[in-house]
Amino acid sequence: MKKTKFEKYLKDNTLVVGKNLKVSSKSPFDFRFERSQEMKGGMHSYVTRVWSEGKSWAIKEGRTDLSVPLLENIDIPLDRNFWSMFIGPLGYDIMPTTDRIAKDLREYFLIAKYFGYFKDNQKVLGDNQFIRKEQKKLRKELKDFYKKESDISSLIWRLIGKKEEKMKLLKEVIKKTDIVNYNFLVKEYVILSKPKKAKYEKTFYIVQEWAEGYTLQDFLEEDFTKKTYGRLIVFLILALHLFEQEQKVIDTRGGTIMNTNWFINTENIIVNPETEEVKFIDTRSLWDLTGTFAEKGIFSSDMLLHSLITSFNDFLENYKAISSR
Ligand SMILES: Nc1ncnc2c1ncn2[C@@H]1O[C@H](COP(=O)(O)OP(=O)(O)O)[C@@H](O)[C@H]1O
Ligand SMILES: [Mg+2]
Repeated sequence: MKKTKFEKYLKDNTLVVGKNLKVSSKSPFDFRFERSQEMKGGMHSYVTRVWSEGKSWAIKEGRTDLSVPLLENIDIPLDRNFWSMFIGPLGYDIMPTTDRIAKDLREYFLIAKYFGYFKDNQKVLGDNQFIRKEQKKLRKELKDFYKKESDISSLIWRLIGKKEEKMKLLKEVIKKTDIVNYNFLVKEYVILSKPKKAKYEKTFYIVQEWAEGYTLQDFLEEDFTKKTYGRLIVFLILALHLFEQEQKVIDTRGGTIMNTNWFINTENIIVNPETEEVKFIDTRSLWDLTGTFAEKGIFSSDMLLHSLITSFNDFLENYKAISSR
């Protein structure tokens, strides 16, 4: 499809991994959009949905106004004095400083390696030839898990507990190309320029293709199809694999700590009931388990991991239930 003027601007001005950060004189909001709508946003960003030449995009501006960034939406009473001991370094880190932006870009590449499966024409944040090779290698290992030893196959054997029946089921799930080689990411660009909202002299905008559908939080599980389950199962394996390889966990928390299974309540995955697309849109929040206490998200990372494993088992069960219907 032909690129729109807006996308051409994004392409020409996006930050590129491994190159100097360049400030662009034009911000995405200098464009005249056919339509634009402020959305609910998240803990870390203001989100605006815009329409330009028949395409829809999410423009996300990094927030700078948070006092308790990781805990604000979590539904437990907080002792501010206690937590304030930890948010010092983190509070600084959420500001759009050049250090933060550079670190984010490196993390994006990690996320791209695990969750992306880019077609040849999908160049994001630089030349992704290397990334595309890594993506292919990883999915090939996943596809061959039952016949070839690899780190990912070792993970899967531990997940399914060497059970023959589960092995067969998983084999069936991932034998389809549009499941095992599925691209969980939408196209995205990053623009560094003057802020619209942030109280900072410059800020970064992540501009992504708009993913139509519902967040997992808003999605009813009874509407899941086999393909949706299949894709989510692959996603979970990749998320756990990323954790084992990099000691980092992606952010798939639910809105409140009272939910025991966070993954199924996350707002960072968008599922489309018609097209069966499953997209992971929060590509900047990796929790570093080797990092400081605050970066680890206190006890949350354990709960995150726990919810990934629980969901894996649930989804495999549900996949089986649908199949035998
Ligand atoms: N590309 C996108 N397509 C559709 N919805 C999006 C997209 N990006 C963000 N959103 C919506 O905005 C919310 C917040 O975006 P997110 O990237 O998760 O920011 P935060 O880091 O603040 O959580 C998401 O939960 C989702 O509802
Ligand atoms: Mg989010």
